[in-house]
Amino acid sequence: MNSVRNNLASTLTDQEVSEIEAEISHLPDRRSAAIDALKIVQKHRGWISDGSLSAIARLLGMSDEELDGIATFYTLIYRKPVGEKVILCCDSVSCWIMGGDKITNKIKSHLNVELGETTEDSKYTLLPVTCLGDCDHAPAMMVGDELHHDLTESNIEEILK
Ligand code: FES
Repeated sequence: MNSVRNNLASTLTDQEVSEIEAEISHLPDRRSAAIDALKIVQKHRGWISDGSLSAIARLLGMSDEELDGIATFYTLIYRKPVGEKVILCCDSVSCWIMGGDKITNKIKSHLNVELGETTEDSKYTLLPVTCLGDCDHAPAMMVGDELHHDLTESNIEEILK
């Protein structure tokens, strides 16, 4: 394990490695910590670069391709740099029925970005997401860690201030 730690020194911090090892200690094998490890490194760095991905893969005993497959499938792992806050607009059925597309369009025009883009000042990245589990209060979205619901074209501007 020490040699693995040493090999990772230039790519994962001691803090990141120890947080990941703590997750691994609760799991049946190292690979089961893949999503947690990606989340831990993303928490520290904002996104998962190719270099970060390789370092995590080595720590978990996986290939880069295997881990990238997981990272790509899991929409809340960012493989490109994102803004200070990520806005996740729900595009699932309840939100769509309740006018979620109008809300998304309003945000797009307010921030002058398309889905998948980051504002020029790097404050926001706008991404679609599947159901946020708040369908009773659709349409819903996340701004950073905060869930917002019962969105209307007028309250959206207040939220983005
Ligand atoms: S469909 Fe949007 S929160 Fe469930």
